[in-house]
Amino acid sequence: GVKPKIAPSMLSSDFANLASEAQRMLNSGADWLHMDIMFLLSFSFTCRHFVPNLTIGAPVIESLRKHTKAYLDCHLMVTNPLDYVEPLRKAGASGFTFHVETSKDNWPELVQRIKSGGMKPGVALKPGTPIEEVYPLVEAENPVELVLVMTVEPGFGGQKFMPQMMDKVQLLRQKYPSLDIEVDGGLGPSTIDTAASAGANCIVAGSSVFGAPEPAQVISLMRKSVEN
Ligand code: DX5
Ligand code: ZN
Repeated sequence: GVKPKIAPSMLSSDFANLASEAQRMLNSGADWLHMDIMFLLSFSFTCRHFVPNLTIGAPVIESLRKHTKAYLDCHLMVTNPLDYVEPLRKAGASGFTFHVETSKDNWPELVQRIKSGGMKPGVALKPGTPIEEVYPLVEAENPVELVLVMTVEPGFGGQKFMPQMMDKVQLLRQKYPSLDIEVDGGLGPSTIDTAASAGANCIVAGSSVFGAPEPAQVISLMRKSVEN
């Protein structure tokens, strides 16, 4: 069976205190730390970057790795994820989830390189991307081991959960009973039951966890929902 993984999104943390924020989440019962890797809008016209924001890169992962042994669940919102496999491996990333929209031609090579780097390969899809696009990656000889269904448009924390995306989660869960299915965007106490009953087992949550007076309560509530 699939195990619940609760993954606070460090995008909502105090970046100036990343190591202590990470430790605070682990002490509150987090299984994974979700790390959003993306770029700035002002470059996007010339370099065709993927989303309008600038966050975490390999140097930040490397610094954080010196302070924790935790599983670092890296979500790559970049146009050429292949360029980041080696830097993130060296930095100490644990999971490497790329977007199917950015990797239509080279995903077999990408998955192979992620695996040979000792990381867990995952594929993510934006709300507008049909779920069928990830089936070949799950069914490949060298498959991805996690599918991340975006439940908001990638780019920012604090957006509203899109319940329509649960159709994708249900289809995936029916087809692949033991696959890790991750949801990301707008997850918290009011949306977790919808996601859990659709079949998601890896839960990313930023603002609902970091904004709570007691993150441990939110994390344990979400874990119970996935376990049921
Ligand atoms: C959005 C990121 C998410 C984000 C989630 O592009 O992929 O990980 O931090 O934040 P919340 O939980 O606040 O929607
Ligand atoms: Zn994310």
